[in-house]
Amino acid sequence: MARSGNQVATGYCTRSADADIIGTLMQVSFRVNGRKVEVEAPPMKRMLDVLREDLGLTGSKEGCGEGECGACSILLNGEVVDSCLIPACQCDGVDVITVEGLAQDGQLSLIQQTFWEEGAAQCGICTPGMLIAARSLLDLNPQPSREEIRTAIAGNLCRCTGYTKIIKAVELAAAMAKPHRAGS
Ligand code: FES
Ligand code: FES
Repeated sequence: MARSGNQVATGYCTRSADADIIGTLMQVSFRVNGRKVEVEAPPMKRMLDVLREDLGLTGSKEGCGEGECGACSILLNGEVVDSCLIPACQCDGVDVITVEGLAQDGQLSLIQQTFWEEGAAQCGICTPGMLIAARSLLDLNPQPSREEIRTAIAGNLCRCTGYTKIIKAVELAAAMAKPHRAGS
């Protein structure tokens, strides 16, 4: 699935970036997993770091830090993005879902359950991003083909599983969700 992180990150932060250089902090308000939050951060602080350091949401992982691996994937306004490429100054008013937002009331979401059942997580570094990509896919396309699953997770690299178990987990979630929506 195409990622928009590069487009977002290179968009319109020039004035804020100048402020960053002289150490200015800015207030950023947004929603995370349905909760309204406000943080004070340097304008170019990465969303990945805001989540992990300012908000204690350490589920999103850093793999490459360059938009290549997808370990830091989040949903931003419903779109899968690499949070290592998103500066805080572009996040005022946005709606973010992280891997912590997938479970509800202490219950794993369906896609989390099927990852567990299929053994789709090994070292776990890629897992939060994979879950976010899978959740996005199943929200948009509840009955994806295997090829559509492969495309949806193409931006997420896994060094451990060979992808087979991950794809099986997504297929199982889709099958179990019939006729309901998966991933929720
Ligand atoms: S850590 Fe963000 S894409 Fe790799
Ligand atoms: S489970 Fe280790 S990188 Fe995917």
